[in-house]
Amino acid sequence: MLVDFRPTGKLRGNKPVDPTASLGPVLDALAEDSVDLSRIRVVCDWIQYRNNFRDVVDLRPILAAHGHESEVMPVALSAVMTSDEMEVAIDVRRSGDVPLKELTGDLIRAHAAGTNPSRLYLEPWRASSKSMIWEFNALYWKALDLWEQITGQQYEKTLPGGESDARNRDAVREIITSLFAIWDSLAERNALPDELYVVEFGPGNGSQAKTWLDEFTALDRVHGKEYYRRLHYLMCDYSPHVLEIARAAVADHSQHISSFVLDATQPRTALGFLAYKIFLVYISNVYDNLPTDEVAQIGGRTYTVESRAYLPTNAVADIAQLVSAQPGQVPGLINKLLRLQPALLVEALPAHFPSVDVAVEFWRRSWAALRLEEQYLPLVGLDLYQIAPTVSGENLRPLLESGAAIRMHVNNGAVASFVDTLPLLHPFGRLICYDLFVTDVHAYRTGFRGPGKYDGSVVNWLNGPLLAHIGRRKGFDVDFQRFAHRAGTNIVTMTAQVRD
Ligand SMILES: C[S@@+](CC[C@H](N)C(=O)[O-])C[C@H]1O[C@@H](n2cnc3c(N)ncnc32)[C@H](O)[C@@H]1O
Repeated sequence: MLVDFRPTGKLRGNKPVDPTASLGPVLDALAEDSVDLSRIRVVCDWIQYRNNFRDVVDLRPILAAHGHESEVMPVALSAVMTSDEMEVAIDVRRSGDVPLKELTGDLIRAHAAGTNPSRLYLEPWRASSKSMIWEFNALYWKALDLWEQITGQQYEKTLPGGESDARNRDAVREIITSLFAIWDSLAERNALPDELYVVEFGPGNGSQAKTWLDEFTALDRVHGKEYYRRLHYLMCDYSPHVLEIARAAVADHSQHISSFVLDATQPRTALGFLAYKIFLVYISNVYDNLPTDEVAQIGGRTYTVESRAYLPTNAVADIAQLVSAQPGQVPGLINKLLRLQPALLVEALPAHFPSVDVAVEFWRRSWAALRLEEQYLPLVGLDLYQIAPTVSGENLRPLLESGAAIRMHVNNGAVASFVDTLPLLHPFGRLICYDLFVTDVHAYRTGFRGPGKYDGSVVNWLNGPLLAHIGRRKGFDVDFQRFAHRAGTNIVTMTAQVRD
């Protein structure tokens, strides 16, 4: 049996964690059962997100390779269980608050029986990037006003530090000053185009754009080159509702603003006409919000993580009662909510949803209760796994083979967005992204990096070494710097520009 205790930083300091308090009850439960202990691996994490998708303890089958026709198609557990292994996952932060031994024993028995009566499943096993949590995430941004009304909290308050670092005026001035320097030097050579394009993905409430444009006008006035007159600021988001809010926030700059309903994972679908023309692509807290798979290297073999969403049955009765339904109807109603959104749901199913408030409350409670069960599915070959349409899984190899067992994000959505954005950049253009980046792959061995829940949305850290590796292969320098303008922040600035 192997024990992988990841939050090693918590073993020292003022209040060191006692690992035996978490491990003891789990090992007791395993010893009492007839599971093959030589095929068990125990993983301890510290889940820092108060709202997340994990139970305090969980079992994850590590499926054996035999019996699999393809690396992406799951097969019935019963067909492969003979020599599968099992991961027991413990959240050390919460493990002292629950009867850990009993919970572990219940999970082992449910697993042996092939069904867990305390879980109501909402979807079949899927690659994590295809899970319904991403539909919930999109719904959040598309119906943000309804959610914020019912919770009384604005999304920005849930970001690290309570507001977006993209509002930081010193950081903004630094970006604009270096942009002016590039433009000045191009102008001296008569190489500066008439139209100066800046693109922002995921503007949220528009405060990032407003700060940037206000600072731009002020600095331009002093600089005296009338760059503002030539500026086009394009805001792109997949939520028409968000774009509407953002447009209102920058109404003072309306002559210089365009907005595009656009999926950030495919920027060239709408922005292809700007190939090689954009001087700045400006992104904050968006990549961490795009769909991702996870991959793992365990015992020298490579796996993808599959997940399936479920509700604990003890939460379902209340949710069902709220919408005058039977517990068994809840998964179908959740799917309807995700397809129709709250307002239409009221029109389509008035017997269950007499008002928009009830529909939003149903959404909020379902999301709060939603958990992910996970299993490891063997990858036949990394070359058969696609990270994004033009990016092979082979790019993961140096990271997966970097040492001991590891589980990491693929950030498929962010990689797709990144590689589809680079061809839009002017040869002197830059992509600047503020986000939660892992900058050393070893950090995946020492901490939990998501997914967590930020209010109604999903957050996952970004695999910086993977993005850098992919960017460099495309001829770009990719650099990471800790965000310099707020002490104690986890936010990192990623900058990509054509290699000199
Ligand atoms: C956390 S907010 C960030 C807002 C702002 N940039 C900031 O730093 O405060 C995430 C933004 O990304 C947008 N977004 C998420 N997924 C997207 C996607 N696939 N395509 C386009 N926009 C997306 C959301 O609608 C939202 O505007």
